[in-house]
Amino acid sequence: MPWIVGVSGASGTPYAAAVLRALLEAGEAVDLVVSRASRLTLLDETGIAFRDAHWQDDLREWLGRGADGKPATFAADVDGVRYWSAGDLAAGPSSGSYPVKGMLIVPASTACVAGVALGLSKDLLQRAASVTLKERRPLVVAVRETPLNGQTLRHLVALDDAGATVVPGSPAFYAGATHIQDLVDFVAGRVLDAAGVAHGLYRRWKGDLGGGTADA
Ligand SMILES: Cc1cc2nc3c(=O)[nH]c(=O)nc-3n(C[C@H](O)[C@H](O)[C@H](O)COP(=O)(O)O)c2cc1C
Repeated sequence: MPWIVGVSGASGTPYAAAVLRALLEAGEAVDLVVSRASRLTLLDETGIAFRDAHWQDDLREWLGRGADGKPATFAADVDGVRYWSAGDLAAGPSSGSYPVKGMLIVPASTACVAGVALGLSKDLLQRAASVTLKERRPLVVAVRETPLNGQTLRHLVALDDAGATVVPGSPAFYAGATHIQDLVDFVAGRVLDAAGVAHGLYRRWKGDLGGGTADA
C-alpha cells in the first residue's frame, strides 16, 4: 500500500524532495498530490515549472537536486510514484476505501492546516487528509510558517486532537549538520519517524553531549 504525499504551498520544497527520495529508496510506493500553490514555491525554490502532463520528468528533475540546487544522490526512480492532479476529486485518495498506509503533508501551509482542521476539502490534498483522519490512518503534518498566529496554533491543536502528528519544519542542531541538506534531512527524517518509515537521514541522539559537532 502506498503513502500519500501531499505537497502544499508553504516554503520548504526541499523537505518534500527529501521525504520522497527516502520513501522511494526504502521501496515504499507513493501517491503524490502537488497543490496548485506549491507550483509557485517549487518554481521559486528550484526553478522547476511542475506540469501535470509531464510530472515524471519534472519529478525526476526535482528529486535529482539537493537543497542547494546541486545534484543529489537519488538511488531510486520515480516508478514507484502514482501522481494525482490536485483538482481531481475523483482520484483514488479521495475515498476511504482506497487502500493507503497514511498521508504525509510536507510542507504544510497554514492554509492547508486550516483547511484540514476544518475539513474544507477544497482540493484533493485536503480531501485526502480528511479521509486519512476519518479512517484513523497516520497523518503527519509538517507545518512551515513563522511566526504562528493564534488561529494556526488552534488549528494545529485541532489536528493533534484528531490524531495527526504535527512536525514543525524546524531542524535541530545536535546531529552535526554541516550543509543545508543535513538540516533538511533532519526534518524529513523526523517526518518519516512519525510515520514509522525506516531511513538513515540524520544522526540520532545517543545520549552524549558534544555529539553536535560534525566529527563526533
Ligand atoms: C514563494 C511563496 C512562499 C510561501 N511560503 C509560505 C510558507 O512558508 N508558509 C505558508 O503557510 N504559506 C506560504 N505561502 C502562501 C501559500 O502558498 C498560500 O497560503 C496558499 O494559499 C497555500 O495553498 P495550498 O495550501 O493549497 O497549497 C507562500 C507562497 C509563496 C508564493
